[in-house]
Parts: sequence; structure tokens; C-alpha cells
Amino acid sequence: MAKTLDIDSKRKVSARKQELAAKDVVVANTLDVAPAGPNTKKVFIKTYGCQMNVYDSQRMADILAPIGYAPIDSAEGADLVILNTCHIREKAAEKVYSELGRIRKMKEEKDASGEGTMTVAVAGCVAQAEGAEITRRAPVVDMVLGPQTYHKLPEMIARLARSNDEVLETQFDTLEKFDELPVERMIKGFAAFVTIQEGCDKFCTFCVVPYTRGAEVSRPVDQIVAEIRGLAAQGVREVTLLGQNVNAYHGPAPAGSTQDEFGLGELIAHVAKIGGIERIRFTTSHPRDMDEALIAAHGTESKLMPYLHLPLQSGSDKILKSMNRGHSYAHYRDLIARIRAARPDLALSSDFIVGFPGETDEDFEATMTAVREIGYGSAFSFKYSIRPGTPGADMDNQVPEDVKSERLTRLQELLAKQQTEFNQSLIGKTLPVLVENVSAKNDGTVFGRAPYLQGTHFAAGPETVGQIVQVKITDAGRNSLTGLLA
Ligand code: 5AD
Ligand code: SF4
Repeated sequence: MAKTLDIDSKRKVSARKQELAAKDVVVANTLDVAPAGPNTKKVFIKTYGCQMNVYDSQRMADILAPIGYAPIDSAEGADLVILNTCHIREKAAEKVYSELGRIRKMKEEKDASGEGTMTVAVAGCVAQAEGAEITRRAPVVDMVLGPQTYHKLPEMIARLARSNDEVLETQFDTLEKFDELPVERMIKGFAAFVTIQEGCDKFCTFCVVPYTRGAEVSRPVDQIVAEIRGLAAQGVREVTLLGQNVNAYHGPAPAGSTQDEFGLGELIAHVAKIGGIERIRFTTSHPRDMDEALIAAHGTESKLMPYLHLPLQSGSDKILKSMNRGHSYAHYRDLIARIRAARPDLALSSDFIVGFPGETDEDFEATMTAVREIGYGSAFSFKYSIRPGTPGADMDNQVPEDVKSERLTRLQELLAKQQTEFNQSLIGKTLPVLVENVSAKNDGTVFGRAPYLQGTHFAAGPETVGQIVQVKITDAGRNSLTGLLA
């Protein structure tokens, strides 16, 4: 095993403990904010991995703004470069080191130009998992900061300026971080992420999240509401409540409430009352935490979108057990039936892993059968990737790479077929679409999101941007819909 993460020392579960699409995609600079002026320093933040990282990158920009940093969309010429990294699969983690090679050259050019230097920071889950190993492997790195420490960025920058020694922060202070985040957010657009919970106590045997993000911590309701009110005042109409295990949410109830804590169902009802917020989503959920209140909310809260991402991972009870998922396939199937009874137009999404250690042809067929039985509107699927320090890495019966690839191809073909069929089933229906922007082609069309998240194109004027309008769907592909303003 390349490197072992010692749960007790690395994780340092907070005594104050109150309590994930991670995909391998790289989300380029997602910070849509004002360009840098002549007196500002320039920061480039590159985001890898999940939506929680997208949110964290936006928050890093919010924290850096008061000390004079403005985001730019390329590393070239930047005073500060932050790679906000993902450790969920090996491929995602390795990308960071190849990017650091490119950044080293840019830093050398900047140093040689006499226009100051470039500070390089590695943030996020690779930073947490590898710590000082990063600066050893990539000496270009000046700062390493775990996902629960980015509120300390201004202090870290000051420390670096004073000593020029590398600065490392990897402790777990999630509550402190939540307390320190500025309420104001720089945001452009009409849909925003809001983190409500971080970390995970589930310890699925394939997953690094409990080690890199730490223990489950829920954010107080008042903090969440203050952030969402601010977003609504800036024109945001849709919020996605984020957490690695979002439906395990149990945050301190708002001031004046008769309850001590709110669960996710109660939080959704509370957020639905905020003026201006028309749509609510949440991700990522665990089947073990779908309680009655949350199931009921799918029927009673009209602002809650009829789209649920509920990862199954495998359809085989033997594999689910070995993954430590804590439920059977039958439990999942029954759960889906209950949520569908509450919200008949619900579409489902899931994550699947193929080739987990010990997965036989029969186990894999059980996953294929589950997909056929449940029927998904979309889904993410991955080959199992050995993560050092997790129990899965030490399991016998690792599945050969070619078998994993063959299974993934078959699963993805089935999922793609279901996705296309689901989208085509919407033809003839009229759906509310949140319009995000006018088409870059400038051809009199606009782009928006349907309730099931598909990008939707239709002819309409720029005055519809930011509004939710009714669109009759006339055509559908695998990833997008086309329609007419109804
Ligand atoms: N290998 C492959 N996929 C993984 N995921 C998490 N850990 C691994 C791993 N070691 C997938 C799971 C999870 C999603 C965010 O990433 O499906 O739900
Ligand atoms: Fe990882 Fe499992 Fe926690 Fe999800 S529930 S973050 S897969 S350990």
C-alpha cells in the first residue's frame, strides 16, 4: 500500500462535532466575477471534482476579495494560483501533479519577468490526504490547505510573506470554518450551491471522503438562511443544498424555534419560505438517511425539484455489504417506491461502481437488473479505483482492469439508453425552465434548466433571462431538450 491514512491522527475528529458527481471532470475557473483592476492582485482558482469543491472555490474567492485579490480565468500572470483538488479516484488525484508541472514553468517565467512572484497553493482533498508529501513531490507549492481550513487563507498568505517557509494547514475545524465564512457571496447567475453539511461518518469501504473531509458536521440553520437570503437579493432563484451526506443533516435550529435541531426535510420547508427562492435541490444523499420527513417533503414542498440523486453503487447485496453501505437492494427499491408515491413525476439519478473487489459476473448482473427495475433519468458510473488507506485497498479478489472496463461499457450503454428514453418521454410536456442566458450564437434562442436538470434550448428574448418560463418540449437528445415558449 503506497500510503496509509491513520484515521485517528489524520482525522482528528473534532470534540465539538455536531454531527458528495464526484466526477473526474475539471471545472475550469467557475468564478464569474468582475475582472481584476490595476491595483488588485490576481488569483486563479482551478476546481477539480465535485460540486462541493465548486462551492469551496467560490468561497475562497469571497474570502480573498477583501484582501485585494480578484479572480482571473487563467494561471498566466496570476499572483496566486490555487488548485482545489479531488482525491476520490486515482485519476483525479494524479491530474494535480501534471498541472503543477505546467504551473512551475509559468511561475519561473513570472519570476524572470521581474513582475513579482506567483504563490502556488494546493487546496482540497489531495491536500488533506497527502499533506507535506505534496511540497516534497512538487517543491513549486508554497501552501497546502485542507478543505476545512480555507477560511485561514489571508492568515496563511501573511505567514508565507513573513517567513517564506511552506505553510501547511490540514486540521478539521469545520464549524470554525462555517463561522468564519463571509455571509456575502460574489455570484453571477440564477442558480447557486450552498453547503449545509460536510464530512461523512459512513465509511464506505471504497471511499476517501471520511478521511479527507472529516466527520459529519451540519451548519446552523440561521447561517444557511442568511447566505440564501443574500443570494436571493442578488437574483438567485434556485439553490442546491450541498453535503457529502446531505440527508444526514441535523443542524442547530433557528433562533426562537421550539426544536433543538432541524433535519433536511425541515430545512427545505424553511428555505422554501425565503422570498425569491423558487427552486430547491439537494445532493448527495444516502439511502440510509431518507427519513419520513424528507420523503414527505417530496410530496408537500412544491419548490423541491422532482429529481433525486440517490446513489445505489451496486445491485448485489453481497457487494453492498462488503462496501459497508448498510442497506440491501430491497431496502433501496422500497424506498424508491415510497418516494415515487409521494412525488409521481420524480426522476432518479445514482452513482454506480463496477469492479469492486469480489464482484463476480453474477453480482454485476444484479446491478444491471437493478438499473432495469428502478429506471434512471441519468446516472454516473465509475470503475472501482483503489484508494490507499481505505479498507477496499486491502481486499482480496481485486477485479482485473479489462473486466472492469467491459462491465463499465455495458452499464453505461444501459444508462445512456435510459437517459435518452427518459428525455424523449418529456416530448409534448410543458416544463418550467429557469432561463440562465441567451445563446452564445446570438440566434434569438436562450438556454435554461428544466426541473430534471437537462439543458433546454428555445426561442425567446433576453428579457426571459433569470425567469422561470413554461416551455413545451418538442425534441430531446441524450443530454438536452429543445422546446417552444408556451
Ligand atoms: N472508486 C470508484 N468510484 C468511487 N466513488 C467513490 N470512491 C470511489 C472509488 N474508490 C464514487 C461513488 C460515489 C461517487 C461520488 O464517486 O460512486 O458515490
Ligand atoms: Fe463516501 Fe460513503 Fe460517505 Fe458517500 S456515504 S461520502 S460514498 S463514505
